[in-house]
Amino acid sequence: YAPGLLSGLHLTITAGPTREAIDPVRFISNHSSGKMGYALAAEAVQAGARVTLISGPVNLPVPDRVHCIAVTTAQEMLEASLESTEHSDVFIGVAAVADYRVSDASDHKIKKSAETLQLTLVRNPDIIGTLAQKSAAKSPQRPLIVGFAAETQHIEQYGREKLQRKNLDLLFANDATATFNSDDICATALWDEDGSQTLGPANKNLVARQMLALIAERIRARQTD
Ligand code: PMT
Repeated sequence: YAPGLLSGLHLTITAGPTREAIDPVRFISNHSSGKMGYALAAEAVQAGARVTLISGPVNLPVPDRVHCIAVTTAQEMLEASLESTEHSDVFIGVAAVADYRVSDASDHKIKKSAETLQLTLVRNPDIIGTLAQKSAAKSPQRPLIVGFAAETQHIEQYGREKLQRKNLDLLFANDATATFNSDDICATALWDEDGSQTLGPANKNLVARQMLALIAERIRARQTD
């Protein structure tokens, strides 16, 4: 792991959960702590990169020399990602983005009344999918697009399906039950038709360095294609 591994490169990284309002005091979200995305941001700066971190609500300090854009909803994360990725060499989607939002969030606190309450949810935009669709894979204008997939079963199989369906360059599949809010991660890196490598289990900072080394390798592979 060389200190200058990523020098001259601009990375955009999403991290943490998104929150989707039900009413002014309630929301839908998930258990992402932001630890994995923040570890990648901190290690990428150490490796010489310029880093924009687009973060959902988390309780972590922004790492030194990282430019952080705080967002709340998936829609806000999409807008910030589209803008930052215009000038990025690499996009890494670590965020656990809410797949659905409440179709008609209430302007006022919902009062307790009936025994049951129904919420209608609508699909949120797929941030990484939108970015990957903008230009053909391997075209020089397209940043390297790196995804994550937290699965509870068939981790590698579902991960490879996501890599292909979302048209990504590299994906880190991991066990959702072990990774959310943990200090450690065990991930399987997946790329191309059959590229794969197991990383960890180890501390998220250590694994982040291995992930960045693989990202640098994918950039090199694309240049020599
Ligand atoms: O934050 P931590 O507590 O450290 O936990 C880390 C983590 C578990 C959040 C992380 O390791 C991880 O796996 N992140 C992805 C979570 C996930 O399940 O993503 P997904 O399978 O819903 O989505 C796959 C990919 O598409 C991800 O890169 C995601 O950022 C992206 N996505 C998903 C939905 C959506 N609407 N837009 C997206 O861009």
